[in-house]
Amino acid sequence: MPVVVVVGSQWGDEGKGKITDYLALEADVVVRYQGGPNAGHTVVVNEEEFQLHLLPSGILYPEKLSIIGNGVVVDPLILVDELEAMHKRGRDTRGLRISDRAHLIMPYHKILDALQEESMGESKIGTTLKGVGPAYMDKAARVGIRVGDLLEPALFKERLQANLSDKNRVLKYIYGKDTLALEPILDSYLEAGEYLAPYITDTAVLINHAIDEDKKLLFEGAQGTLLDLDHGTYPYVTSSHPVAGGACIGAGVGPTKIDEIIGVVKAYTSRVGDGPFPTELLDETGDWIREKGHEYGVTTGRPRRIGWLDLVMLNYAAVLNGFTGIAFTRLDILSGLDVVKVAYAYERDGQIVREFPASFKELAKCKPIYKEFPGWPEIDPNVRTFDQLHPNVQDYVKFVSESIGVEPSIISLGRGREDSLTLRNVFGM
Ligand code: IMP
Ligand code: MG
Repeated sequence: MPVVVVVGSQWGDEGKGKITDYLALEADVVVRYQGGPNAGHTVVVNEEEFQLHLLPSGILYPEKLSIIGNGVVVDPLILVDELEAMHKRGRDTRGLRISDRAHLIMPYHKILDALQEESMGESKIGTTLKGVGPAYMDKAARVGIRVGDLLEPALFKERLQANLSDKNRVLKYIYGKDTLALEPILDSYLEAGEYLAPYITDTAVLINHAIDEDKKLLFEGAQGTLLDLDHGTYPYVTSSHPVAGGACIGAGVGPTKIDEIIGVVKAYTSRVGDGPFPTELLDETGDWIREKGHEYGVTTGRPRRIGWLDLVMLNYAAVLNGFTGIAFTRLDILSGLDVVKVAYAYERDGQIVREFPASFKELAKCKPIYKEFPGWPEIDPNVRTFDQLHPNVQDYVKFVSESIGVEPSIISLGRGREDSLTLRNVFGM
């Protein structure tokens, strides 16, 4: 039975939450494999809106298993709040499982995130300030504290003490800031640990059992390919691996177990945070798309930078992830424009560039070369076949998918779960 990975093909906010939620209809298990509360997924079910940060989109299906994998960094205080908010809305969250190997975001990570950004001045990354980068730094430095440690208070205290003695020196002597006391952190984290205890387990075992039992699994990436620590627009990236390969590490499954990799492609591009953006629109068209699409960060409220679709970038994403299908989103937001543009190459110092450059300085010098498409009217969310779409939408979708050599599997027609057109069922039903 297929194991499907959903990946953002741009800089995040492609609409993965909606696509994951839609595909989760058929899945038995939904697994989040990286990132942390930096993510923001908006899911609309029966006109009720949910904004999720740490909870996997699968949480909206009480009968399914929703897993926070080992590759995620967990802020337990945020997670408890998110669960409480679900309970207040009458949602059953008993399907949640949290990996005991996932690393914790600690209060000093959030403080250091802000201090590091501040000290970078002009060259700041524009992080979400949720402590994600510093938490992954500690994981790589082998001093991180893990979710499972919350269940062993004596060990947790020992690890916290060791970390605080180090972090307090950094806070005091490098940044000239106040130091942090042990007790309040210890108390609040152990309290959260007690609350979360029923959900904490070895999730890789659960996931691999489910695969052995021929269950349908959906792996949900956060952020997007161009924010990948290795493959993204470094250093303007996040500190984890949104690419499909990240699902293996962040969930504990072998690469041979994965059958389908669906790239979520927004009909235009957006980016929050700093860094080069070749197709960025700094004009009224960009403002118009931002307003129509409510393109403001779910996590930070920042206005997102908007630009046309970029096929150089998309092609790079298709290759890196090995997409077997794409899910188009937000074609409806572009409706009403006279002209819709797509960059199919860049121009740099008189040369045509087709490969996405590694250097952000190089990328900043690239000027997009556009193909223009006539716009389309409002999209009818009740369309049920590709042929029923407006011919201009069909042309746009065909051009994009042929350019990157990947067939469309899903076309999102609007915000709601049911406003979706399936062209090929990725779970093979
Ligand atoms: P961090 O992940 O908070 O360290 O931020 C690093 C970069 O990733 C910044 O440019 C953020 O704006 C961006 N980023 C992090 N999470 C998301 C997301 O879920 N959507 C879009 N951008 C994100
Ligand atoms: Mg988002």
